Amino acid sequence: MRSLNYLGILALLLALPTTHSLKAHDFKTCSQSGFCRRGRALSARAKEAGATWKSPYVVDPSSIAIASDQATFTAGVKSSLYPHINFGLELRVHDDGVVRVRMDEVAGLRKRYDEAASWALISEPGISKDIKWTAGKKDIRAVYGQKKENEVVVTFEPLRVALLRNGKEQVVLNGQGLLHMEHFRTKTPEVTHTEEAAPKEGEEVADDEAQVVIKAKAPNPGAWFEGDNEDDYWEEKFSTWTDSKPKGPESLSLDINFPNHGTVYGIPQHATRLALPTTTGESPFFSDPYRLYNADVFEYLASSPMSIYGSIPVLHAHSADSTVGIFHAVASETWIDVDHASEKSTETHWVSESGILDLFLMPGPTPEDIFRQYSKLTGTTVLPAHWSLGYHQCRWNYVSSDDVRTVQKRFDEEDMPVDVLWLDIEYSQDHKYFIWDKKNFPDPVGMINDVAALGRKMVIIVDPHLKRTAEYPVYKKASELGLLVKDKNEGEYEGWCWSGSSAWMDFFNPNVWDWWKSLFKTQKLATGWSWTESTDAVHIWNDMNEPSVFNGPEITMPKDNLHYGGWEHRDVHNINGMLFSNLTSQAVAERTDSPTRPFVLTRAFYAGSQRFGAMWTGDNLGTWEHMAVGVKIVLSVGVGGMSYAGSDVGGFFGNPEPDMLVRWYQVGAFAPFFRAHAHIDTKRREPFLLDQPYKGMIRDILRLRYSMLPVWYTAFRETSVNGLPVLRPHYVMFPKDQNGFNIDDQYYIGSSGLLVKPVTEKDATEAKVYLPEDQVYYDYFNHHAYRGAAKGKEITVPGALHQIPLFVRGGSIVPTRERPRRASTAMKQDPFTLRVALSKAGTARGELYLDDGETYSHREGQFVWREFVAEKPAKKSRAIRLSSKDLGSARPAEAVDGVVLKAFDPANAFAKSIADVRVEKVVVVGLKAKPTAVRIEGGAKLVWDFTAGVAAADKKEGTASLLVIKDPKALIAQDWAIIIEW
Ligand code: GLC
Repeated sequence: MRSLNYLGILALLLALPTTHSLKAHDFKTCSQSGFCRRGRALSARAKEAGATWKSPYVVDPSSIAIASDQATFTAGVKSSLYPHINFGLELRVHDDGVVRVRMDEVAGLRKRYDEAASWALISEPGISKDIKWTAGKKDIRAVYGQKKENEVVVTFEPLRVALLRNGKEQVVLNGQGLLHMEHFRTKTPEVTHTEEAAPKEGEEVADDEAQVVIKAKAPNPGAWFEGDNEDDYWEEKFSTWTDSKPKGPESLSLDINFPNHGTVYGIPQHATRLALPTTTGESPFFSDPYRLYNADVFEYLASSPMSIYGSIPVLHAHSADSTVGIFHAVASETWIDVDHASEKSTETHWVSESGILDLFLMPGPTPEDIFRQYSKLTGTTVLPAHWSLGYHQCRWNYVSSDDVRTVQKRFDEEDMPVDVLWLDIEYSQDHKYFIWDKKNFPDPVGMINDVAALGRKMVIIVDPHLKRTAEYPVYKKASELGLLVKDKNEGEYEGWCWSGSSAWMDFFNPNVWDWWKSLFKTQKLATGWSWTESTDAVHIWNDMNEPSVFNGPEITMPKDNLHYGGWEHRDVHNINGMLFSNLTSQAVAERTDSPTRPFVLTRAFYAGSQRFGAMWTGDNLGTWEHMAVGVKIVLSVGVGGMSYAGSDVGGFFGNPEPDMLVRWYQVGAFAPFFRAHAHIDTKRREPFLLDQPYKGMIRDILRLRYSMLPVWYTAFRETSVNGLPVLRPHYVMFPKDQNGFNIDDQYYIGSSGLLVKPVTEKDATEAKVYLPEDQVYYDYFNHHAYRGAAKGKEITVPGALHQIPLFVRGGSIVPTRERPRRASTAMKQDPFTLRVALSKAGTARGELYLDDGETYSHREGQFVWREFVAEKPAKKSRAIRLSSKDLGSARPAEAVDGVVLKAFDPANAFAKSIADVRVEKVVVVGLKAKPTAVRIEGGAKLVWDFTAGVAAADKKEGTASLLVIKDPKALIAQDWAIIIEW
């Protein structure tokens, strides 16, 4: 949220009504953005021209050079509109089949920004060894893949790139002829014409700055393609702002079509459905393209293609028999039209304001493959600190050290678990981050220690705007060292944010990096200021990093601001926020001599941000609509690789009624990141303040989350290895099931087999849940068995306020820890419960991953990774064998965070530290008959209890039977087997 000046901020703080609505006029529509308008006009002209439209871009076959690695070729490209301008095309195939397509202007008047990929990628991808380009008269092509199923074809005239699988086109670039790279040009001066003085076309005249070729009045040869006026080429106005655009037009337009793929997902962040609605066509769902331009959108709409805080230019195109993906490494403002041309194909049109074409085509062919291919490029979500998966209590603001202590005490008195207490901006003196407001926080280290003494952490906000005053050591030093973003005249840029007149650190400047990291050191440094009034129990919240500038155009920085290297803000806008959380997470990790896992929450993000921490969906509203769309946004950012995500529980704005709050906690408890937060004007709404029965309901939800921490942590381990999202949408789990393509209100948690459908409607008493397969699904709480169907089936389940539709897919084994504790750190030695949910075939499987949760020793093999299996020991045997075995030795290449271990020792030091941790209970759900005996394999009999099921008439549904084995004499880190026999 924002206002125009400091008084305004104060007024807002004191009296902000909670019923504001979005100020849509603060943000551009496509028609208010010059290059978007030009891009859409181009596609309109193409449509009108129909079959006569032809892309002017042509590959010069004589220029083709195949590199010695054989996987790369380069070629010259020209546009018939501007024969004197040269473009260079490069294609290369990576060792996993991803095709990288780059195009840039060669030896132009200026250099286009080409560094977005270098910030997003983890390393230079390996090149394929089994590919060979063959150049012919009309095209150059290469066949590759294990079964030679893939082919890339680059047609010369016009330039067209196609990725084929088994002879069928899957992705086509420039198939509609909308490729256009606006080359750098000199400005045509406005000429006051007099007959005698009018210069002739092509005549050179001296100019103060440069030689300028006068083209006044000359008809534009490319008008059919570019339009006949220079629409906002050299200056652009929006509201009261003028963008000086010194480089002139440099936008990039490209159509990317997906024949054979009717559904598309991704390009977060937008508040809309997961399967992206169309933005063009006769009766459009949205009339504007999806916009990617990180923005602090005050009270954003719950259904809109408008930009919000983050941008990930990644798209999945999906059909029942194929998934393909693309990642466009561009950092400037980008608009994307999506047109579901037919049920079976999708056309997209991408227009970016600046930058080179740097496109990665991910061949799939399944969603899982795309996640692998994408995370090989930009990395995976790193395994977070275990405590950060607990519950986070935040509000703007806990106003004093005593307030913090009281909140903590109240949680303990009410037996409500919480791991993290947060401080928003008011902890700081005049919003000079790091510097405590000593009036209200007289003893910060004492307060932090009181929180840490109970095994908890604090997260404290550090925003990127620095109050411009010599009394602020951080600003003073940054200014002296010239580390701040500059305005268009190369002076220090000044704008307004929470701290009043502010400046912004330029994280593109390498000189910032070590210095920024030094600020977080908790010991005194000889070299300068550091945060001595902090401890290792403090982690960081990076907000406002779009960046939010209250008095800037579209509440952000002017595009003609300058960053390190002379790049304009327009070139780097969407990656700017990622650099901030990148450096902060490094700072937190490295502040101690033995690094520990940092927790950094960011609001702005880009492709690659998943490596640096969690995100949240910003300033949502306390409405049912926002509660529901928050779930979809979290699924969608997961498609972009950003798995560690959640929304403000309760809604940032507003005073939710208790029933809404209960529902919101249910949503939060089933999101990867679980934090309650509230605006400064809202009433206090910590869960302990509620009356019964709401208070009890939320206590139960919090405890449920804590009991499931093993599931969440295991799911995070998996994403840290293969990039598959922690929350799995239906199309990822069941790619062939057409019915599931549009489902975005229920999802699976990792590979655990848990399926959840958060209820987000007021007064609901039941919910409809889609079961995609002919399998049994058990209600997590009462073990009612539901049976899906091969073609999918919708069931109606209880969903009153205290009920969460949560199911265990038959065939899963779910590990939990069922002892209520005050914080996750108190659970390290707690025993486990295993919930064995038998499939219709009577089998089940599950995993559990554990490590110390805080250090990086897991990368050296200090962890416990178990596989649980329930199966018949032999084909005809009348028994079930339930066993636990080590997975680390079996799959060392899948260690964690992508680290490949040489060998794994199941008796490592961490495993020893939990050597005594038991399985305290095994619950087997869905046995067909009462066993005669349950015993340890080759050993003693166990104590058990069996409750028969109550089957419905078809025997497939009804309450499932329960076998409870108390104290099965099994240790969690050891191999064991239990035999259940008849
Ligand atoms: C922004 C954040 C919000 C925070 C507030 C004050 O509006 O999105 O979460 O409470 O700033 O720091």
